[in-house]
Amino acid sequence: MTRMEKDEIFRDRSDFIGDFNFGENVAAVFDDMLNRSVPFYQEIQRMIVEMVNDFAADGSNIYDLGCSTGTTLLNLNRNIGSKVKFIGIDYSEDMLARCRKKLSEDHFTGQYELICADLNKGVHVENASVVIMLLTLQFIRPLYRDKLIGSILRGLNDNGCLIVFEKILGEDSLINRMFIKYYYDMKKRNGYSDLEIAQKREALENVLIPYKLLENRELLLKQGFRYCDVFFKWYNFCGLLAIK
Ligand SMILES: C[S@@+](CC[C@H](N)C(=O)[O-])C[C@H]1O[C@@H](n2cnc3c(N)ncnc32)[C@H](O)[C@@H]1O
Repeated sequence: MTRMEKDEIFRDRSDFIGDFNFGENVAAVFDDMLNRSVPFYQEIQRMIVEMVNDFAADGSNIYDLGCSTGTTLLNLNRNIGSKVKFIGIDYSEDMLARCRKKLSEDHFTGQYELICADLNKGVHVENASVVIMLLTLQFIRPLYRDKLIGSILRGLNDNGCLIVFEKILGEDSLINRMFIKYYYDMKKRNGYSDLEIAQKREALENVLIPYKLLENRELLLKQGFRYCDVFFKWYNFCGLLAIK
């Protein structure tokens, strides 16, 4: 049975902080990391299931881009009424190994496929009623984001949706600093030390590149989504629902 191991990746002081990566060490503690680092993570999962239920169409595909250890796929499979195929894509073999294990332990009943691929190189999406990018677009190099969103749009069926959830920048630097402070306070309440927070921040610096809320909205509308609205906002985190 997969146990949820405690995230202590940045607990000890290190002289050299390399770029954050989604290798074996992170994959092993990833579920605990998300639960303690993402505000209202369980509620966001619940909201995603609720929204997907309204868009999922029998015979279509549901994509989870950056599926990590499969938490979203599992929640969807347990709660979605329609007969769909789930497709999880991630470039980390270590994440996908955990995902495969969790899906099999949960006796995942739906049809599914897990694909190892780098989204910076684009993605092939077809017959999709829903595409989900939960905390993943922020890791795609800005240079490739337009093209990626364009491919997703083309692969979505009419009236299908893209659900994006991101860490974001505040609209101005004062507000941004305040939001980041509140966010780090939340992490402290969830048991992370100042050192852990600082070392992780450094590791993510060149890897996680957040946009402002309005920049993300513009990115989606510019590619041709008809509507885009905010379904969740907490300081420097935001969820967007875009409809083709
Ligand atoms: C923060 S995690 C996503 C969390 C997950 N969606 C969830 O809520 O459980 C980001 C995921 O995106 C994957 N990822 C980052 N950059 C990627 C890329 N260029 N191509 C494919 N996957 C990528 C990482 O391996 C990681 O599993």
